[in-house]
Amino acid sequence: MCGIIGYTGVKNAQDILIEGLRKLEYRGYDSAGVSIQHDGVIDTVKSSGRIDALVEKLGDGIPGVTGVGHTRWATHGAPNDTNAHPHISNNGRFAIVHNGIIENYESLRAELTADGVCFKSDTDSEVVACLLELYYDGDFKSAVYKAVGRLEGSFALGIVCADHPGRLFAVKNMSPLIIGVGEGENYFASDVTAFIGHTKDVIRLSDGQAAEITAESVTVYDADGNETEPERSVVTWDIEAAEKGGFEHFMLKEIMEQPRALEATIKPRVKKGRLAPEGLEELDISKVSRIVIVACGSAYHAGVVGKYVIERLCRIPTTAELASEFRYSDPILDESVLVIAISQSGETADTLAAMREAKGKGARVMSIVNVVGSSVANLSDNVLYTWAGPEIAVATTKGYTTQVAMLYIFAVWAAGKLGRISSEREGELTKCILALPERVQHAIDLNMHVESLAKKYHTYKTPFFIGRNFDYASCLEASLKLKEISYIHSEAYAAGELKHGTIALLSPDELVIAYCCHEALYDKMMSNVKEVKARGARVLAVAQEGNKRVLAEADDVIYVADTDPLFMALTQIVPMQLFAYYAAKENGCDIDKPKNLAKSVTVE
Ligand code: F6R
Repeated sequence: MCGIIGYTGVKNAQDILIEGLRKLEYRGYDSAGVSIQHDGVIDTVKSSGRIDALVEKLGDGIPGVTGVGHTRWATHGAPNDTNAHPHISNNGRFAIVHNGIIENYESLRAELTADGVCFKSDTDSEVVACLLELYYDGDFKSAVYKAVGRLEGSFALGIVCADHPGRLFAVKNMSPLIIGVGEGENYFASDVTAFIGHTKDVIRLSDGQAAEITAESVTVYDADGNETEPERSVVTWDIEAAEKGGFEHFMLKEIMEQPRALEATIKPRVKKGRLAPEGLEELDISKVSRIVIVACGSAYHAGVVGKYVIERLCRIPTTAELASEFRYSDPILDESVLVIAISQSGETADTLAAMREAKGKGARVMSIVNVVGSSVANLSDNVLYTWAGPEIAVATTKGYTTQVAMLYIFAVWAAGKLGRISSEREGELTKCILALPERVQHAIDLNMHVESLAKKYHTYKTPFFIGRNFDYASCLEASLKLKEISYIHSEAYAAGELKHGTIALLSPDELVIAYCCHEALYDKMMSNVKEVKARGARVLAVAQEGNKRVLAEADDVIYVADTDPLFMALTQIVPMQLFAYYAAKENGCDIDKPKNLAKSVTVE
């Protein structure tokens, strides 16, 4: 939800900001803008639409070596030129970029308006620029602290002041912000991808901290304004990981990267044939009475798979809850409950709120997260990182499958620790987990077959996905993938539920995609497929390799490589990621940046 960037150094700031904004565009893409400081003034250009529209408007460009930039996903105010960031104080001395939501902006706006301040935009963010002007007496840092002290809500802020050449302030509170430390130049951004082409040395700010950044120095202050030792680290991946590498879309590249991402997630967790995930050392699983998984969107769907696997293997009662609902349900929790938060970005506001709710009620919180040092990781008692690398396409693929793999690892590890499975079974399951990257490669090899099926079926208006148990979890994810990138409405249904009402919708014009991979429930599933066929609907089945019986019922079949039934959910989702991708391509959709969406949902 919005990407911010700042640069100060010796190079042309506009070029660096535009390059960074292009990398951040996945976070929001309805408008963009830059403010650049030069010769004692700040020049700002903003435009609705994509970064290309901003570049066109910039024309010959703005000179200067210090500036801030923003790419927006609108929350407060329509996506137009005026509401685009940066926002400028009335006297033109301050420009700010903001990611997050200022919750008390209405009262601040009323107060400032009564003092004669004139607001130009409908945004919550503009109050920050106006507060800076109000509190400024020549001391940049003091104005920043006084202004930020008035704000409630979540914010990552980048600030430039015309009176302080080459100087930026960056402030973090519950929205992502990372500083890139270069040689004779420094950066800040919502995400490291924005500057990874220039430096891998980073400082991760904690909530409440601010950084004063010049070309030669980065000074970090705590919430009270006292200088504090920054937490420095080096990013382990490089620019190629954040680029398309010859693929037409990031989504396709990321689908293809899944075997590698899974290997990076799984292999380091296996030592001498046994699962030994780091990060769980202080978790006494024998004291856990119940597990609650909280997450949003696809991460929630991974959680549904996790619920089934954990309950089967560990016999610990487990539920998967939508994070956005969980926090308002007055959940019954205590210190014996383990809450597992799942998040690719590690910045999802609803997931963070659910985690805070859980911690407030005394539960232990573990997270499965992809972004190192993210807010979700920082809030957790235990962290299991998925090593998927950067995920740029808005629709998650490798983020999702690595989350599922991590849940498998956790479930087998916990079941072994609890003695709920024999050592022999633990060894067998570990081998299956190790083989998952190769099984997923097999599913990826179906690429051309799936493309032809997408060409055949992309005109169907409202496909139904049906399946039972693990297969149902895959239906939820497959249906979301199709909806979000191809704009084809679809429904995911537990197959047994169809006859309780929805079957009324079936006709020869409908497509039903039936997951038939769960061997134990195969016969029941076939009864449902027959019911569908009896209403004349077309059936595309996804089944395990070697299952010839399904051919008698389905119009088309996608065969996925066999593995232990507990782990089929991971391999069987891949063809439907490809199906959604090719259907979206047929429909001429903007696959990496679907309309109305943003990658990292940092608002509730
Ligand atoms: C769908 C998708 C979203 C995310 C959800 C949670 O393709 O990407 O549904 O899964 O917004 O995001 P994270 O995992 O970053 O918390």
